[in-house]
Amino acid sequence: MSISDMQKMISGYDRIAEELEICRKYGIDYYTQRGKWTQAVEKYHPRRLELRVSEKFAENADTTTLRLVSTNGYLPPFRAGQYINLFVEIEGICTSRPYSISSSPAQIAYYDLTVRRIPNGFVSDYLLDKVKVGDVLTSTGPAGHFYYSSIHQGNDLVFLAGGSGITPLMSMIREVTDRNLDRNIHLIYGVRKPQEAIFHEELLMRSQRHSNFTYDLAVSEPETGYEGITGFIDADLIKKQIGDVTGKTFFVCGPREMYSFCIPELEKMGVPGRRIRREVFGTPAEVTKEPAWPQEVKADAEFTVKLARGQVIKARAAEPLLIALERSGIVVDNCCRSGECSLCRVKLQAGKVFQPAAALVRKSDQESGYVHSCAAYPLTDLEILL
Ligand SMILES: Cc1cc2nc3c(=O)[nH]c(=O)nc-3n(C[C@H](O)[C@H](O)[C@H](O)COP(=O)(O)OP(=O)(O)OC[C@H]3O[C@@H](n4cnc5c(N)ncnc54)[C@H](O)[C@@H]3O)c2cc1C
Ligand code: FES
Repeated sequence: MSISDMQKMISGYDRIAEELEICRKYGIDYYTQRGKWTQAVEKYHPRRLELRVSEKFAENADTTTLRLVSTNGYLPPFRAGQYINLFVEIEGICTSRPYSISSSPAQIAYYDLTVRRIPNGFVSDYLLDKVKVGDVLTSTGPAGHFYYSSIHQGNDLVFLAGGSGITPLMSMIREVTDRNLDRNIHLIYGVRKPQEAIFHEELLMRSQRHSNFTYDLAVSEPETGYEGITGFIDADLIKKQIGDVTGKTFFVCGPREMYSFCIPELEKMGVPGRRIRREVFGTPAEVTKEPAWPQEVKADAEFTVKLARGQVIKARAAEPLLIALERSGIVVDNCCRSGECSLCRVKLQAGKVFQPAAALVRKSDQESGYVHSCAAYPLTDLEILL
């Protein structure tokens, strides 16, 4: 079908074309504006950013903040709670990881990324040990939907954080306190040991200076004689620290285990689902422990993945297809690496994959056989359209 045939099918197209002609006759030519809006959109939602590491500072024994500035003097604005996906090349493998921006959107001279080392972490080790001040990194623009909206969420917010899950919440806390916004925040931050808490001193300082910000540290493995709040963030602890939950909106961010524990506790307390916002901090650390995982497939099972272009690669059951592709030097566009944004989708032509509940594949994509490769684990040999 030709473009003019398609245009004829659009209701009202003839009238708009006629009006454009009249405008052009009187000197207003919208065709001269072509590309202008694309440029404006690109300014706020750039596909890629070049960022220079301007500072690196330790937050605690296993967590470091990388302060990133733009190489061309411009950083797009972001909403507190959003992340950028950082691209790296390690040992010849091109991969990426999303990191929440921990600094306040009240300033956009830099983005802070606060990275916690995980045992044998491929990228976190690299960022903490190898990346130096002055290095230039590439990332996506700010992305993600874990942010505050005054229309839906009211002014009374409760933040439940675990481990490095404090980072997007820290950006929100910094924004509210720096800008003196009309919002109350009560943070309950769960850690195993007090020394694991990131930003502890700053959180204390902000809670002392700002009456609309309250900070509780909950320690699950306290030393004998520890006098602060102890235990996991459960219904009892929340009730004790927060009191009535009516009208409050909960923002939850932390390791996956925290969601399966905290969310049912909130539901038990009668908090409606629309008042619970959660950030998905990646795919499961041990996918074979997911309830729906087929027990007959062992974590170390290895399968082949045949690409439409003829290449055959190996993939492990317990590792997302995206990582198998990256290990083999195949680059697939991606952003959230959590099964949400659908950028990494590939079409499955044969075989079976396991998709954790968090992999939000659109119905139309499911029907056409697409999977999100960042959250699809091979259960058999596969054939994919790539
Ligand atoms: C929206 C979002 C925001 C986040 N924000 C933060 C944050 O603010 N701070 C923070 O610390 N974390 C954050 N994370 C988690 C972060 O993205 C990483 O998952 C985390 O840093 C661990 O990554 P890693 O590469 O070190 O470990 P993993 O990816 O878990 O690697 C574990 C193992 O996998 C193997 N491996 C993985 N990939 C490859 C590969 N391509 N090639 C070869 N081997 C591989 C390695 O053997 C390694 O030992 C966020 C995640 C999301 C989704
Ligand atoms: S990278 Fe977002 S769904 Fe896979």
